[in-house]
Formats: sequence, structure tokens, C-alpha cells
Amino acid sequence: MTQQFHDQPLAAAALDQIFNEARSYNGWLDKDISEAQLEAIYDLLKMAPTSANMQSLRIVWVKSTEAKQKLADCVMQGNKSKVLTAPASAIICYDMDFHEELPWLFPHADAKSWFEGNEEFRVESAFRNSSLQGAYLILAARALGLDCGPLSGFDSDAVQQAFLSDQPRHRVNFICCIGYGDPESIFDRSPRPDFDKFNLIV
Ligand SMILES: Cc1cc2nc3c(=O)[nH]c(=O)nc-3n(C[C@H](O)[C@H](O)[C@H](O)COP(=O)(O)O)c2cc1C
Repeated sequence: MTQQFHDQPLAAAALDQIFNEARSYNGWLDKDISEAQLEAIYDLLKMAPTSANMQSLRIVWVKSTEAKQKLADCVMQGNKSKVLTAPASAIICYDMDFHEELPWLFPHADAKSWFEGNEEFRVESAFRNSSLQGAYLILAARALGLDCGPLSGFDSDAVQQAFLSDQPRHRVNFICCIGYGDPESIFDRSPRPDFDKFNLIV
């Protein structure tokens, strides 16, 4: 296959949709999203890079009314209505035994052996890469015309018990509500730092 060169910036409208004008939503328009849209998000995010292509992200998609109620019982008071009314919420998890999949995910090296017998390294790698993939999920959803509301205000043990009892090697990272954001639900944009504030070119 010929590798295409993509060496031009995206159109300004695309950058606005993904970054400059995209917001974190606290409320949702009454407009459902389909399972096909959830799959489309995954099919984009999985193409973005992870260490040794480990793909340590595991997602539980909360879509049914029953599952939304179960999730609402696990989140902080201020986040309950968000997960109850969002068309879908992604529980962003990581697999501490992701290395078992490396023989097919990274076939040109024996990457599985790099992680065997070193659980601390595995957990650090799984968490790092699932965080990256969670961020890719937000950008993929926005690129597809959807909005996100990420949440870390929840009881991890409760989520673990409610959704991951059959996956003891999976851990929760964060939750991301997805849908069409209600513009009435956002606060004024918080300040963002200028380049000089937190950057150093050496
Ligand atoms: C990992 C993560 C966890 C967050 N947790 C919560 C949360 O529990 N509750 C909440 O209301 N907002 C939460 N937020 C939303 C942030 O406050 C919001 O993204 C940030 O203020 C930037 O807002 P903006 O994207 O609209 O500019 C979270 C965001 C991220 C990325």
C-alpha cells in the first residue's frame, strides 16, 4: 500500500470542531446516538498510537436505561444527571494483562516477554496508554460531530463491582459521557495558558 502524505494542517473549521470551540458538556440534547456511532468512534481511536501497539484500553459502553441507572449509583451527586441523560457513557478501563494480546497486536517482536513477571510495569503502561486512548476517544467523538463530558468524580470500587465483576484484571480509568451537548449546560470557558507559561524549548 502506498503511504499517503498528510503534511497540511486541517481546515480551520475542523480544528475549531475538535479543539477551539469544543467544550466539556454537563447536559445533553434529547437526541440519541447509535451503536454504529460508538463503533465509528472506536474505529478511529484505535488507529492512534499506543506503546508497542498494546491497545490496553477496554471500554464498557453504557447505553441501556438500566445500565445508566447502575452507573449513576456509582458517581458523585453532581455527576448523576449527566450519566442518566447522556445517550451513552464510555467507562474507560485498562487491562492489566494486555500483554497476553501482544503476539497478534505487535507481531514483529516478542513484546509479550517485555511485560511478563513485572506487574508494576504492566499497570503503569496499561494506565498510561488507556489514558491516551481515552483522550483519542474524545477527539474521535468530536471529529464525528459528537460531544463529550469526561468525568472522574465516581467511586472506582463501585464501578468495578457494578460493571467489571467478571473482569478482575480490568481497572477503571475515567468515564466519558457522549452525545449532542446542550449549549445551556456549559460554563464560560476557563482560561488557557499562553505558550510561555508552561513550555520550555531547550
Ligand atoms: C479526566 C477528566 C475528569 C473530569 N471529571 C469531571 C467531573 O467529575 N465532573 C465534572 O463536572 N467535570 C469533570 N471534568 C470536566 C472538566 O472540568 C473540563 O473538561 C474542563 O474544565 C475544561 O472544560 P472545557 O472543555 O469546557 O473547556 C473532567 C474532565 C476530564 C478530562
